[in-house]
Amino acid sequence: MNNETIYLHEKGPETRGGRSTRALSITRLFDVHDTRAIDLGSNAGYNSFDLYECGCREVLGIEVRDKYLELANAEKNRLGYDHVHFRKADAQHIDEFELGKFDLCLCTGLLYHMQNPFNLLKRIRNICRYVALETHISPAWLNWRKCGEKYRKHLTRRTHQVMLDGVPFRGRLNIFPASQEMQTTSGSIVSHATFWFTKQSLLKAFDLAGFHVRACYFGRPPQGFPDILIDHGVARTKIFIWAEVKEPDREIPVENSRITGCDRLLEP
Ligand SMILES: C[S@@+](CC[C@H](N)C(=O)[O-])C[C@H]1O[C@@H](n2cnc3c(N)ncnc32)[C@H](O)[C@@H]1O
Repeated sequence: MNNETIYLHEKGPETRGGRSTRALSITRLFDVHDTRAIDLGSNAGYNSFDLYECGCREVLGIEVRDKYLELANAEKNRLGYDHVHFRKADAQHIDEFELGKFDLCLCTGLLYHMQNPFNLLKRIRNICRYVALETHISPAWLNWRKCGEKYRKHLTRRTHQVMLDGVPFRGRLNIFPASQEMQTTSGSIVSHATFWFTKQSLLKAFDLAGFHVRACYFGRPPQGFPDILIDHGVARTKIFIWAEVKEPDREIPVENSRITGCDRLLEP
């Protein structure tokens, strides 16, 4: 096992199921008891273990980087959790692996690492009934100025309209320098440039991907929904969405396609 220390995103209260805040937040929205869950971009497995401890019957973590899979499997063996599994796979093709259907998909810290996040949403829609998704979104202008250097330094100053699978969306591109070796980051495996939706475009993407957005947490809890543990970041770049698939018995065909309409920005 490698000894790398893991940065635990959204640290939780460290009670049972509380390594991170995510699983505990989901239990305020949904009865996870006896459900089958998938955790996309499972990193060292902490959200998968939390979901299991909160009551899921079975959890499958999907992770693309070996170093995180090693850590997750070592911890799974230490805990003796036979119903938590990890698999090496690229989430961008998650509906192509014949994994069966899941009651719940947890997708946190992953969507903004995609060059075509709309495409991933459609694939998620094909494999699950509910999704809990947390992602960074393109901050409003004032917040772009206020958000930390960590976020601002690679984000385009202006929002742009791009085409994802032939549909127009607004957002900012997050462009790493060409010299950045992407495998060494915890982000995208391939793309130096990824797309961060504006809030409005993210909601449009959920709708067109075939979801009903039940709750959108961005600032105060939505009316009629409980307060959950979510840190939106100093300048409000992080959003949490709870959504349900509109027609769960139908699969939609999803093409492989790339972002267009911003070719000049993507030139090396
Ligand atoms: C920012 S971390 C988020 C980890 C965890 N989901 C969380 O929310 O705390 C992103 C994780 O997704 C993984 N990842 C990135 N691109 C992926 C892909 N295409 N398929 C599967 N995992 C991916 C990274 O290796 C990393 O472990």
